[in-house]
Amino acid sequence: MSTLRDAFGRQLHYLRLSITDRCNFRCAYCLPQGCSKETSAQPLSGCEIERLVRAFAALGFWKVRLTGGEPTTRLDVCEVVHRIAAIPGVTRIGLTTNGYRRAEIASVLRDAGLKALNVSLDSLEPERFERITGSSRLANIVAGVEAAVAAGIPSVKVNVVLLRGMEDGELDRFLEWTRRLPLAVRFIELMQTGENGEYFRQHHLPAEEIRKKLEARGWVRQEQDPGDGPATTYRQSGYAGRAGIIAPYSAGFCDSCNRLRVSSTGKLRLCLFGDAEIPLRQLLESDHQQAELIRTIESSMQVKPAEHLLREGRSGRTGNLASTGG
Ligand code: 5AD
Ligand code: SF4
Repeated sequence: MSTLRDAFGRQLHYLRLSITDRCNFRCAYCLPQGCSKETSAQPLSGCEIERLVRAFAALGFWKVRLTGGEPTTRLDVCEVVHRIAAIPGVTRIGLTTNGYRRAEIASVLRDAGLKALNVSLDSLEPERFERITGSSRLANIVAGVEAAVAAGIPSVKVNVVLLRGMEDGELDRFLEWTRRLPLAVRFIELMQTGENGEYFRQHHLPAEEIRKKLEARGWVRQEQDPGDGPATTYRQSGYAGRAGIIAPYSAGFCDSCNRLRVSSTGKLRLCLFGDAEIPLRQLLESDHQQAELIRTIESSMQVKPAEHLLREGRSGRTGNLASTGG
């Protein structure tokens, strides 16, 4: 099988594809005013998405994650999952969602071939959750996570963005969830974007603080699997699930980068916080363009940067993560 490498020898096999830039939440660090009402450019169609993913699969990509915006705001999300799951070479298809539609669609997504579901859920306290996201649907989202595990989706993860004001009690409630359910709860350090500077200064909570708390509670860091990407995993005996930490500000975070991103309008983004953007949509009009599409992706590897420059406070062209899904 072919493999795609960048100029630093990193092997890339993971595509994160945004299928819409629309979102129905207003997370304080992402889209505090919500999505603009203006109609944005049409996202890639199911057909365009299929051509795109075929090209990546031909380059050895076996893992695809659909993101947004909120991918389940697209009515054809299950059909898109189904199309991608049928592409030879793609063995792991995942979806990242804020969870507002999940309880109803967990089993449909599973039947469409979904292997991994990541739910963004920053608080288990209803008032705090509403303050962060603008949504009062916490109970539904929690029920959706449980429904996804019950439906037998092989990997269910909860992503918690770390924000100042998160009490130890809240941390313990997230951890308690993993005692009973085979869930991975992953704590993600807040990243500064072009638009959230003030919020970031007030709310940034270093991942190191959570790392210390996990270790104090007897959680043990696991050996990193090469295919894992940048999360570090912790386990605790007696717990069905696991905990994880994603610390984008830590040194060496980008060394294990294994991914490329494509925006909802078909722009290849080489780094979440980089400036480079390579439009691919014009190569998704017909099946005859596959060879050129593959060549275009291959040649852009020369300009994939070594690492992001977040520590220097540089967010590239990333105003917020709604169009590229984090
Ligand atoms: N820093 C860290 N995570 C973020 N997300 C969105 N914006 C940021 C940010 N600035 C997360 C969401 C979700 C995932 C898609 O990206 O909360 O977990
Ligand atoms: Fe929140 Fe994700 Fe929507 Fe941004 S895109 S507002 S992080 S749910």
